[in-house]
Amino acid sequence: MLPVIGSLRPWTDPTITAIGRLQTHVPLDRDRRQSLDGDWSFALFDHPDLVDEAAISGPAPRHKVAVPGNWTMQDTGHPTGDLPHYTNVQMPFAGPPPNLPTRIPTGVYRTLFTAPAGWKRQQIVAHIGGAESVHAVYVNGQFVGYGTDSRLPSEYDITEHCRTGRNEIAVVVVKFSALSYIEDQDQWWMAGLHRSVWIEARPATHIADVCCTADFDAETGTGSVSAQVRVGFSATPKPGWSVATSLHAPGGGRVGRIISAPVPAGFDVPYIFTGHTVTAAWQVPKAKAWSAESPSLYRLSCNLIDAQGAVVETVEQRVGLRRVQILDRQLLVNGQPIWIFGVNRHDHHPDRGKALTPADLRADLVVMRAHNITAIRTSHYPNDDVFYDLCDELGMYVVDEANIENHAYNTSICNDPSYRSAFVERGARMVQRDRNHPCVISWSLGNESGYGTNHDAMAGWIRSADNSRPLHYEGAAFHGDGGHPFGALQNWIDGGLVATDIVCPMYATIDAIKRYGDSGQGTRPLILCEYSHAMGNSNGSLADYWDVITTTPGLQGGFLWEWKDHGLRQRLADGTTRLAYGGQFGDKPHDCNFVADGLVSADLHPHPAMREVAWVYRPVTVQPGSRKGTIRVSNRQSFSGLDQYTATWQLLVDGQVAKQGRLKLPAIAPHSSVDIAVPCALPTGVESVHLTVRFELKRSTWFADAGHLVAWDQVQLRAARPPRRESFKANDAVAAIDSLWLSPIELSIWRAAVDNDGFKLMPDLAQRLRVGGQGLRIWQEAGVDHLPAEQLVGHSWKRQSNGLTVHYRHSVQVPDSLVDLPRVGITFALPGRFSQLRWFGRGPHENYPDRKGGAPLGIWDGPVDMPPYLVPQEFGLRTDCRWFEFIDPSGQVVRLDVVNPTAMHVSATHFTAADLFAAATETDLRPRQELVVHLDVAHRGLGTASCGPDVLPQYRLPAGTFEFAYSLTVSGP
Ligand code: GAL
Ligand code: MG
Repeated sequence: MLPVIGSLRPWTDPTITAIGRLQTHVPLDRDRRQSLDGDWSFALFDHPDLVDEAAISGPAPRHKVAVPGNWTMQDTGHPTGDLPHYTNVQMPFAGPPPNLPTRIPTGVYRTLFTAPAGWKRQQIVAHIGGAESVHAVYVNGQFVGYGTDSRLPSEYDITEHCRTGRNEIAVVVVKFSALSYIEDQDQWWMAGLHRSVWIEARPATHIADVCCTADFDAETGTGSVSAQVRVGFSATPKPGWSVATSLHAPGGGRVGRIISAPVPAGFDVPYIFTGHTVTAAWQVPKAKAWSAESPSLYRLSCNLIDAQGAVVETVEQRVGLRRVQILDRQLLVNGQPIWIFGVNRHDHHPDRGKALTPADLRADLVVMRAHNITAIRTSHYPNDDVFYDLCDELGMYVVDEANIENHAYNTSICNDPSYRSAFVERGARMVQRDRNHPCVISWSLGNESGYGTNHDAMAGWIRSADNSRPLHYEGAAFHGDGGHPFGALQNWIDGGLVATDIVCPMYATIDAIKRYGDSGQGTRPLILCEYSHAMGNSNGSLADYWDVITTTPGLQGGFLWEWKDHGLRQRLADGTTRLAYGGQFGDKPHDCNFVADGLVSADLHPHPAMREVAWVYRPVTVQPGSRKGTIRVSNRQSFSGLDQYTATWQLLVDGQVAKQGRLKLPAIAPHSSVDIAVPCALPTGVESVHLTVRFELKRSTWFADAGHLVAWDQVQLRAARPPRRESFKANDAVAAIDSLWLSPIELSIWRAAVDNDGFKLMPDLAQRLRVGGQGLRIWQEAGVDHLPAEQLVGHSWKRQSNGLTVHYRHSVQVPDSLVDLPRVGITFALPGRFSQLRWFGRGPHENYPDRKGGAPLGIWDGPVDMPPYLVPQEFGLRTDCRWFEFIDPSGQVVRLDVVNPTAMHVSATHFTAADLFAAATETDLRPRQELVVHLDVAHRGLGTASCGPDVLPQYRLPAGTFEFAYSLTVSGP
């Protein structure tokens, strides 16, 4: 039984949130600090009751694991080990709260540290950066303290337990606790010390906290900073101490120095309770404001001075002068509305799980910003402090979220008094740690936890402690407080006003958000806390969302779900590795690949939809102007002009660049537009004419090199006229062309279902969670996935040749019963040597009818795509192709010309739809030698139905007749 607290079993009791833990404070860098990161001796037990005195202070086991690290990602030395386990809503064990499973993996971590002689008479503190789920700390065998909340640091005063010289610290981490019920986020259950651990010495009298409030008045250009410095002490200090605080401008110049009235002599007078906090305040005329666009940081430096005038210690904080407010249903920063070009980000690394290095955090931010993402919701818990430092410095808006999700007991725990302290404490401690970060523009009360009294208690604490930031909580407006039915417009107008200042629904339809905006009612802006679920081949209609967001008052953007797939690298018996999803570790119950729903793969490779994200989130847009012959350039930034970009144009005639040049632009103020003349004359003719405008970085920045493409748009200046009909007659050349085909041309109406069509690996999930598309089930019932297409739809076709060109004409009749098919087109196979592709259509990357805004028309070339998604599914389409060439290394070319309609959609991969659909995981796939080509006259959009709205009506396939014609030519050696 765990020494001292074993009989109490605090992990079973949700009311015990900590024992002996120090006050949370903003991070303060101190000189006397020893990192304990490295390899720790480790033993895994099956239950905290099995951990006894010997495990904590007997001979340390030889087995080691890395700290920071999750033991679930390492060899634990335990015979059965403890692997990652994925669940979404359901708990990994049976409830109800606070019941716990019979096996509760418990790790005992031990390491040695040396307390130098110079640390005598100082306060020695142990800092545990993050432990999943709860932990107890022992020094030299003696109990020191106990802490909960996996995602915030805990600190303990270990002075009394330490001796000069060698000491041993043991941290017992208990994987499941009564608090696991409020850490039920949709992610892997891990365990261990996943953030840094250190020991530090603080002078007996020291700076304990620095709480800054900074503001910026955009009307006058004046900023203000006020710093409250709390002095901490272990012994009663003598009178005469003071704090000197100075503020330095971004360039380095000192704004001013303030020496506090001496820390009151009343230190030892018990009724002067504020006696240990001193305040310094500055007005800063002509201040440099902080925003994500120009993240100017001031530096605050605090010296603690003893009665003799000696500086005892110095700590520094970075301060951003900015004002966040909500006015007229708008979220304003420094008086300006900002677009929330946002994404939800979890901590995830394919090899280290939840243990991220500063380099990992920065790498995420670089890839985000290079794709025009400027806002992050820390779904669903506070991150490592380094993350906020980076966002302050580089410029990102952050919604900081408390580590609370009781999804499996959604509507009960939020009203359960036994969880009240935990709720309040998690919100409060987040604020106490992160309050000085200018990047944090809003506090989130957590995720998917219903809405109840515990939320209002937390909201009250936060509002009182920090009224400079709005609150964000999805559940408050969703569940409402007026007895309105679920998700009704009225809830968004006045539901949950106590707990949220932002209407932040998840996965709301475009119609619903528009209805709210157009209603003009309520006081709150609408910012989607989650939307456009990026599971597999997804993110259909992202541009349609933004068409409505940018044109409807009250709507300001949202946070995409989600940044990264949570695939975990798994070594297989044959020595190969794969990125694993739920269930592949033998974990039960599990929610399969619902954990793979990121815009980038687990190892940070952007999925194709990221190009669409970058385009939809672009800071400058170009559209047709109000008069013929003009284009409209709009600056969507809130504070900057366009001088950081080089603008160029290209005139494309049938995809070929006919003319190009620099685009000369007048100054375009933030949030404004200018119409300018099309920069060149149009050629005469029948060809299609497009103007492409690009904005590239003039100078290298932290996220990209000079020349990086930031924004692009294409305006159609003239549509192509359909080609003249040629007459064809039957010819022997048909046979010559036929000899190339490895399979004859066949009708095709099936695509390997994407996750949004339905969950092929977990048919029950849709029902359980009421998410997921119905397409797959309907198609399977109708036989679309396995019957020959000719059996289901009518098909007639003709072919004729005029020499080396063979002309095909098809007519397909889709019965009413098969409305909403995945595709209508043909497929054939070519020898694999035709592996170089060139086309006139949308590209260069994969695109779909409802995800093609970011894929301009042009003449593109490239190799055959490999499947980008963790669970194999349809991929690789290029829409609106006028022609497509398949080229072999000798230069032989098979060319496909689309005749009617003017453009069709093409994909060319080494997999058939059946191959992709049959595979459960990437390692099941074997590329075919041949090239499998699809040519579609219609292809269903992607939508986001894996968690959200299905494909919009305009991107679905009607029943009725589809006619199309194309020709094939072989040329070259
Ligand atoms: C939301 C939830 C996220 C995630 C997502 C689906 O309901 O907040 O954590 O589960 O859906 O991937
Ligand atoms: Mg959830």
